[in-house]
Amino acid sequence: MTATASNAYGSSFTAHMVLARWTEEDGWSRPATLPFGELPMHPAMVGLHYGQVVFEGLKAFRGRDGGLALFRPEENARRFRHSARRLAMPELPDDLFLDAAEELVARDGHVLGDGDARSLYLRPLMYASEPDLMLRPAREYTFLLIAFVTGGLFGDADAISVWVSHDQSRAMPGGTGDIKCAGNYAPTYLAQNRALEQGCQQVVWLDSEERRWIEEAGAMSLFFVRGGPDGARVVTPELTGTLLPSVTRASVLDLAADLGHTPVVERVSLEQWRKECETGEMTEAFSCGTAAVITPVTRVRDAGGDWVVGDGAPGPVTRSLRSALVDVQHGRRPDPRGWLHAV
Ligand code: COI
Repeated sequence: MTATASNAYGSSFTAHMVLARWTEEDGWSRPATLPFGELPMHPAMVGLHYGQVVFEGLKAFRGRDGGLALFRPEENARRFRHSARRLAMPELPDDLFLDAAEELVARDGHVLGDGDARSLYLRPLMYASEPDLMLRPAREYTFLLIAFVTGGLFGDADAISVWVSHDQSRAMPGGTGDIKCAGNYAPTYLAQNRALEQGCQQVVWLDSEERRWIEEAGAMSLFFVRGGPDGARVVTPELTGTLLPSVTRASVLDLAADLGHTPVVERVSLEQWRKECETGEMTEAFSCGTAAVITPVTRVRDAGGDWVVGDGAPGPVTRSLRSALVDVQHGRRPDPRGWLHAV
């Protein structure tokens, strides 16, 4: 089955949310756990007007032992600080981020039953909540943490197809492509709509200078597989400053090595992708992210001609990497790097 665009991702939330506020005088308040609900909003709130908003995405899983664990939350806490710094926002201390995540999972994690294959997706958000339209960093911020249950961004789809954008860019050198800010996403919607019109689930972004090098897909990182399945080269574009340093991307590079493959970080051009699929050197491609997990990419639509990756079906290297990732997350595979953070 090929994926259709999911419109049911993150539309129904768990019963609680965690909230903290920051002011210049007092710094961060103690986070409060509240019933999930609407928030009062000042019409002149800075975040709404000037986009001083950063967010994260991380997941908690029900393990084989029945316990709940967050997957690498320390990495998200660190990236959240990095994103905030770039937008001249106060950094949320890691212990506050982790306490909030543990609290929400402890409160609402019961929505994941024993043996549940789904996950609890946590969405930390920080926005400038000061009402003042002067163009300068706000002096008041709100941190929020909400959660919902998900099986994955593409439901139970076993593959996606992608469409390449040549005339729009997601990020530019010196910009904000390497952080998770709200403003990185709405500008991708037009291209994403064009991908959908072309029958594809995701847009592929090229670098903004040469429009030659593959960067990432709409909401996820991209990987390419050369050779395999025993000892493949598992390749992903390097982090040039315009790509999001994805936690799943880093995890896949480690898991690829664990499975006997060679992880490779290097630039891959669109032309290489096309040619290597034609010659058979490139056997598989996949996307990955917290929301996307690992999803095979089997078809590419491009103004210069379409092509199929491998034999057009999910490949063995992608499948084994996905199983390895999901097995670690659910406590079914050893976790030598301590990625699971028990709650
Ligand atoms: C995630 O994978 O956690 C993301 O943030 C992507 C999301 C915007 C759908």
